[in-house]
Amino acid sequence: MSSVNTAIQLITREQATTMAGGAAASTCSPALARGPWDYDLAEALAGVPAYGPGASSADAAPASTPRQGQLPEEYKLASDAELDARIRAAKAALGDRAVVLGHFYQRDEVIEYADFVGDSFQLANAALTRPDAEAIIFCGVHFMAETADILSRPDQAVILPNLAAGCSMADMADIDSVTECWEQLEEVFGTEPDAEGRVPVIPVTYMNSSAALKGFCGQRGGIVCTSSNAATVLEWAFERGQRVLFFPDQHLGRNTAKAMGVPLEQMPMWNPRKDLGGNDEQRLLDSRVILWHGFCSVHKRFNVGQIEKARAEFPGVQVIVHPECPMEVVDAADSAGSTDFIKKAIAAATEPTTFAIGTEINMVNRLAAEYPQHTIFCLDPVICPCSTMYRIHPGYLAWVLEALVRGEVINRITVQEDVAAPAKVALERMLAARP
Ligand code: 13P
Ligand code: SF4
Repeated sequence: MSSVNTAIQLITREQATTMAGGAAASTCSPALARGPWDYDLAEALAGVPAYGPGASSADAAPASTPRQGQLPEEYKLASDAELDARIRAAKAALGDRAVVLGHFYQRDEVIEYADFVGDSFQLANAALTRPDAEAIIFCGVHFMAETADILSRPDQAVILPNLAAGCSMADMADIDSVTECWEQLEEVFGTEPDAEGRVPVIPVTYMNSSAALKGFCGQRGGIVCTSSNAATVLEWAFERGQRVLFFPDQHLGRNTAKAMGVPLEQMPMWNPRKDLGGNDEQRLLDSRVILWHGFCSVHKRFNVGQIEKARAEFPGVQVIVHPECPMEVVDAADSAGSTDFIKKAIAAATEPTTFAIGTEINMVNRLAAEYPQHTIFCLDPVICPCSTMYRIHPGYLAWVLEALVRGEVINRITVQEDVAAPAKVALERMLAARP
């Protein structure tokens, strides 16, 4: 099976030569066939950050979103073969001094150079397994690089090859709006613990959030979670608090709490643009989990109709979705879990099976190539990668690696100590939490 990027190139070429609709597949944006540097330039000209083409391109990027400056021309003009040779040469020259990490959602053309491939949590830990590496090149998105910086040694440089590789969901909760929410909640709940010593509310942030929000949780008795340990973390929080403020992903919060038996009526949503998040005091007092108004535009593309279609066309199909999908989708699927859960579920199938998967397309297609004995396809028929993951291209990887060979560190992600210290507390609480 060809890579997602090759497939997009083919689709756009076919669309350009025939308007007869002969192409079997379609992509959400033909602009994906171009280099992401076009968007670095467009942002520079427009003066406003954007996420680029792909799922989440319609989300509004906050003004504070980091922007990537211009990639030198030589990397934009280089052929795939030239970039391949240059990346391999730079990696060979650096040897153990540099480690390249690749998230499951990265394009194949980047993953092939990764020393470790995994989910956000595994990759943050992978950095710890290479204490001798001077540089950690994180092919993922901004919050992942920040987490690696917090957990790695101070003298290790964490590098994000394209600074514009953010996460639109992480950007939906910012420190000012969450602090404002917290102050309003304190006014409603007070700050005194109940008879069992449980404080009124515990903040829980998904790994997909800025270091500032992880620090916020660390300072207020809160904790971080990932999609693989969200239930354990909520249990930890309910032992210590009467309720939870969960941000930024409403879907992960709702799906996890619902599976733990929390009724939907006790999960109000907090809209940061409204007073009391759009709730009355009683609704907040009755709540168990207050859900921030955030979502992932990649996982929002999945719907129940797609699942019904897969079941009609492939009787016996196993539908597995990520818990960032809306509740109805998770309810209609056979199972839901993190990227690592999905990978393990497929690896565990002993008989040839048809799997319909609800997560990012690069990962799904890679699984399909890795397990040819199974039929594996993405529930979303449109090829639409995560727009921010897409901002990492081999050209940027070659650029930062060759700079390292010259002794230059480009695009270093550094979390200031006053943020990193409390953020580490919240991350360590997560690491210590046990089911
Ligand atoms: P993982 O934590 O499973 O790597 O997922 C990160 C992510 O961004 C999912 O959309
Ligand atoms: Fe963020 Fe969604 Fe992309 Fe994951 S898939 S990095 S949550 S925008």
